[in-house]
Amino acid sequence: METPDGAPILPKAELHLHIEGTLEPELILELAARNGKVLPHPTLAGLRAQYQFTDLQSFLDLYYANMAVLVTEADFADMTRAYLGRAREAGVRHAEVMFDPQAHLARGIPLTTAVAGISSVLADSFDEFGITTGLIAAFLRDRPEDDALDVLGQLLAMDAPIIGIGLDSAEVGNPPSKFIRLFDRARDAGLRLVAHAGEEGPPSYVWDTLDLLGAERIDHGIRCVEDSRLVERLATGQVPLTVCPLSNVRLRAVDTLAAHPLPQMLASGLNVSINSDDPAYFGGYAGANFAALVDEFGFDADTLERLAGNSIRSSFARDARKEELL
Ligand code: ADE
Ligand code: ZN
Repeated sequence: METPDGAPILPKAELHLHIEGTLEPELILELAARNGKVLPHPTLAGLRAQYQFTDLQSFLDLYYANMAVLVTEADFADMTRAYLGRAREAGVRHAEVMFDPQAHLARGIPLTTAVAGISSVLADSFDEFGITTGLIAAFLRDRPEDDALDVLGQLLAMDAPIIGIGLDSAEVGNPPSKFIRLFDRARDAGLRLVAHAGEEGPPSYVWDTLDLLGAERIDHGIRCVEDSRLVERLATGQVPLTVCPLSNVRLRAVDTLAAHPLPQMLASGLNVSINSDDPAYFGGYAGANFAALVDEFGFDADTLERLAGNSIRSSFARDARKEELL
């Protein structure tokens, strides 16, 4: 497969993707109409005009508000199917998809509705899209740990088909140390462990995510470059960092793409992959993120292969699937 300008589309894994962040404005309006929801910005132009962010919180406010249109199992399924179609076009062959169970419960949506809607589509993702998938329950770090423990307990009791847990939402002021019992409980249940860290939060949050939570992968992690000892630790351990360049620009974690630390991270030998985070909000899917990097940094074929290879090696896919994709 090739891009329109003839460059090969490399098979890759997407490891940092919030399924609720794939809700495109058109689908938001369609679901609102289907469910009789009146939106504060009921036109496409009006809704699109809200997509200007000054920081993570300004994005999260819109992201949580737009979730109001997700009501039925079919809504969650339609959103998931739309993502897989777009991911396939970008060369994604394995996707580990996060969802925010607490955000739906807080709106009165039963856990079974969200889980069944998303997982019914993921269960057929290979047959329908040629993409193997896994589901990760991400917990909201701006809520109490007891709430997260309660929801994890419910997910385990219902035997939800999750492969792991994550930690997302407002980072600063909600340090990893708040969630030690949650990660211990998930580890005991045999789940894989990932967490956002070092997106807006300081390098100490990345240290604590590794040392206190035992996370296997760091989502974002870009602020690690401020601490040379941390960079050394991450490089030595080849800890996967799921970097999301367009997200970082749109949420002002970096001033411009040119100022993004990705080239420095690669030069330091870090295990980075490229991901789309919330593609409907940040200007595109995996393909758009790769294209922007090629435009800005002129990455050569070896670098692109290294990034795609890292994503596959850092995934929780079975070894045979990884070998097939590498
Ligand atoms: N939830 C959805 N996208 C997020 C991000 N980039 N950081 C933290 N929480 C999120
Ligand atoms: Zn994220």
